[in-house]
Amino acid sequence: MIFVLILGIETSCDETAASVVYNGTQIMSNVVSSQIKIHSPFGGVVPELASRKHMEAIAPVVKEAISASGIDKEQLDAVAVTRGPGLVGSLLVGFCFARAFAIALDIPWLGIDHLEGHINSLFLENNPPLFPFVALLVSGGHTNIYYVTSHIEYELMGQTRDDAAGEAFDKVSKMLGLGYPGGITIENLAKAGNKDKISFPRAYLDKDRFDFSFSGVKTAVNRHIQTCSEKHVEDIAAGFQEAVVDVLSYKLIKAAMVKKSRHIALAGGVAANSRLRDRVRKDAGVNGISVHMPSSKLCGDNGAMIAACAFHYLVNGKISSVDDDVFSRSPLKTFGVGQS
Ligand code: KG4
Ligand code: ZN
Repeated sequence: MIFVLILGIETSCDETAASVVYNGTQIMSNVVSSQIKIHSPFGGVVPELASRKHMEAIAPVVKEAISASGIDKEQLDAVAVTRGPGLVGSLLVGFCFARAFAIALDIPWLGIDHLEGHINSLFLENNPPLFPFVALLVSGGHTNIYYVTSHIEYELMGQTRDDAAGEAFDKVSKMLGLGYPGGITIENLAKAGNKDKISFPRAYLDKDRFDFSFSGVKTAVNRHIQTCSEKHVEDIAAGFQEAVVDVLSYKLIKAAMVKKSRHIALAGGVAANSRLRDRVRKDAGVNGISVHMPSSKLCGDNGAMIAACAFHYLVNGKISSVDDDVFSRSPLKTFGVGQS
């Protein structure tokens, strides 16, 4: 019987987060310190500010995560940290902290791909998916479909050719003068709108492939705002959200069918969107497919998902070496410890 405690640290963007996770599944503590208030007046994340705020927050956040977990730091078996993709200045804060912390405790440390972390967030819930499954990872920087065959093995089936879905939410929110972050703002506004009033374009590209494009719908919203004298922001939000959700759900279900998989999953910040969650559940139900998604709290960036992923590398004997570095972008299909 193994008993592994991992401290997971995440600082890839605008959240300083730390968590203690037992055996890759049980969250013992999960602390997330958000910088939203700092960046929101600027309409987006300001990289230098983000790094400085991570510097301020990292030690107290880690301290709180360890104390809330009820363990002593000497009981930790490893430290895991996001290695990329993300803002390099932000990543370096968590990365250097994690490495120094691990060296001081004389335990291994693991640099983890943020996207792999999001996928492994599914295993922190009560109803994890069975392998193999098809996952839609939809966040501020990525819109990817994967065929997932194990905790650490994935086939990239499709990705966005331009904007990520979360990025489109953020940009549309900005166009409407609603600020950052856009996802939850658009979702809340859309609840009061009519999704069928304005029909924005759906870019299915090749319907049999799994690539995405969201720059067209974003441009169409902008044109609508510029040319329409009557601006019903709720209807614009609802129409835009529906256009994005239509494409995401269609491609995810189609990918599952191509792979003859009966299990699908959502992960990443945009997976918190309740319209997307409802729609995927409905479309999957019609097709006899089971759906798995993290709770909203675990959709956004957190340290628990990084620790959960690291567990599977650690038990396979993989740890980071002292010369590993952070990376800002994931090269296609490159995952895991030791690759950049
Ligand atoms: O995974 P995440 O926290 O960070 C990245 O890895 O990018 O995702 C952040 C993205 C942002 O673009 C944010 O607007 C979007 O997720 N998001 C949402 C919702 N909550 C967060 N998008 C749509 N609806 C939401 N409820
Ligand atoms: Zn993320």
